[in-house]
Amino acid sequence: MPILTTPTTWILETANTAYAFGLNSQGFLLHTYWGQKLPRAEDYPLASEFTGWSSFNGATDVYTEEFPAYAGSKYTEPCLKTTFADGVRDTVLVFDSSEVLDSELRIVLRDSYYPLTITLHYKIHVEYDLLERFVTVQNSGDTPVTLERLFSAQWHPPAHRQYRLSHLAGAWFKETQMHREVLDSGTKVLESRRITTSHQNNPWFALDNALQPATESTGEVWFGVLAWSGNWKLTAESMIYQQTRVSIGLNDWDFALRLEGGQSFTSPSSLGGYSSAGFGAASRALHHYVREEVLPHKHQLRKVLYNSWEATTFDVNEPDQVKLAEIAAEMGVELFVLDDGWFHGRNLDNAALGDWWADEKKFPNGLNPLIEKVNALGMDFGLWLEPEMVNADSDLYRAHPDWVIHFPTRERTEARNQMILNLARGDVQDYLIDLLDKLLSQHNIAFIKWDMNRNVSEPGWQNVLEPKEIWVRYVEGVYRLWGTLRERHPNVIWQSCSGGGGRADLGILHFADQVWISDMTEPTMRLRIQEGYSQIFPANTMEAWVTDMGAKHLPLEFRFHVTMAGLLGIGANLHHWNDQDRALAKKLILEYKAVRQIIQNGQQYRLRSAFEGFFSSVMYVSPDQSEAVLFAFRTHAPDPVLLPPIHLAGLAPTALYKIGETIRSGLAWQQIGLEIRLTDFSSLMLHISRV
Ligand code: GLA
Repeated sequence: MPILTTPTTWILETANTAYAFGLNSQGFLLHTYWGQKLPRAEDYPLASEFTGWSSFNGATDVYTEEFPAYAGSKYTEPCLKTTFADGVRDTVLVFDSSEVLDSELRIVLRDSYYPLTITLHYKIHVEYDLLERFVTVQNSGDTPVTLERLFSAQWHPPAHRQYRLSHLAGAWFKETQMHREVLDSGTKVLESRRITTSHQNNPWFALDNALQPATESTGEVWFGVLAWSGNWKLTAESMIYQQTRVSIGLNDWDFALRLEGGQSFTSPSSLGGYSSAGFGAASRALHHYVREEVLPHKHQLRKVLYNSWEATTFDVNEPDQVKLAEIAAEMGVELFVLDDGWFHGRNLDNAALGDWWADEKKFPNGLNPLIEKVNALGMDFGLWLEPEMVNADSDLYRAHPDWVIHFPTRERTEARNQMILNLARGDVQDYLIDLLDKLLSQHNIAFIKWDMNRNVSEPGWQNVLEPKEIWVRYVEGVYRLWGTLRERHPNVIWQSCSGGGGRADLGILHFADQVWISDMTEPTMRLRIQEGYSQIFPANTMEAWVTDMGAKHLPLEFRFHVTMAGLLGIGANLHHWNDQDRALAKKLILEYKAVRQIIQNGQQYRLRSAFEGFFSSVMYVSPDQSEAVLFAFRTHAPDPVLLPPIHLAGLAPTALYKIGETIRSGLAWQQIGLEIRLTDFSSLMLHISRV
């Protein structure tokens, strides 16, 4: 039984892991266990009884409360902070009841005085070894309650250890850089205040024992994510009493949610997991789950795309796009994406956002003639949109200046000359649903690149009782807009882009099939961005393009190989490629098509880290272990260099695999490794098959 309960204990088991908590006699709901699954229910610890603390120790200084609400003498990070209508600002939660519904456990807590109910939801994803947690707050009274913090979960790795926190940090052009640091007495905060997930931090953490660090393939790792595409916050607290807690949820900065009597709110989900086989297994659990349970098109194979942005920027017209499409089709591209510059009045980045119909001068007969030509070349057609944005110089803004996020008494800060439409508003959502639905209905569009090219400023929302709700309601609005369009056009493949990887998270992946993970396409930098991204997300979401960035020092084959380790795309100006380049591209696209099933849907093994040196390698293994694809890259290292063997992973230990002339068992390839030779700035891709 994956969910075991007694009146005071709850044990949630997945295939290999377990999570437990219990109620002690003082009425505290305490976390008791998170780690490897144990043989017997009796093996899991019971909620401890606490005996005496000094007047300076608050309850949560020592208690690992499962879901602490701010109340009484609690001085540590709470998951919930409220203000009641009478001004009372603490929430005294008492246990009410519990219920099991298939693979979900619900724990109902209620305030000891006010009619406020908190339901803790725990869903076990057994075969993925993941636990999903979210919270519903219900105000059953007749006066409003204001939520000032609502986290989705507090995660407790075992106490009495010092932990190392792994997290991803970055910036535009430099997303998902791996950072690891030892947590030591205090609180580390990661967050976004930008209305999107952000380039700066990702809502993901991994903890391992600082004194016995995990590796890619060994050691214990506790990890988690938040499935949310707006402001979020993570606090990693390292307590003096040898406890470490990671809380994650909506950001409480400038945050308030007003629940009128009878209203409820459900938080986004946080997923957590435990791996006893290092960071690689933790990532594979997330990849597997995302691929099978989150992505709208799951493991459907993604097409090789060409995007015309770097070739033509805003200067687009039908004949030029057709010329590019012809070259792309000849090379084997399957999806042609027209990027920015196609819509009414768009010649530069200072006008037109919001006016989503074809520019009359550039496309006198609309987009359909181009789409028909692209289709006749055997390719699908894709289009760039930036639905949440508006330029001051646009018909939309002239008609509805009040639709943008702003404070009436402040200047509206522009970034890239644009402002953000207030997607928290139902009328704005409805307008966009209508307009974009028509666009999709009137054209044979198979792919949409959904961009979002700035962060918020002056976060005002007029004529509502609680303007600070904008942070949450905006994201809900984006989800509604995107979700409605998806529903009406279920075959369209959507790409999430926010100036590269500014909106990559498990929330948006319910709507977007793939992510443009960075505008940075220089391949040696890209190797690190891709590796960081792969901590959370599977390769079938990782859109990559071969461009001419890095062309001076990197051969075309190297640039292709980096890109082929995800969803192969091309973004270069194809007019600059000579016949030889195009022939090589054609050959590599063909090679990619032969193995993309393994890359997009296989198990990923990071064999050598691009963050740790000039020689990196990543491998994908088909689910039945019959085939694998190995990539290896050497950037710059002065000769003489003796490359160490690459220890393969994920192969069936006793099955035989042939590489070159050598046949070895999977275990032998793992233990002995594969010796390869690579000169400076060269790469290889090997397709490995079972004999
Ligand atoms: C963003 C994207 C680019 C391109 C431009 C178009 O910067 O990241 O790929 O689509 O917008 O304006």
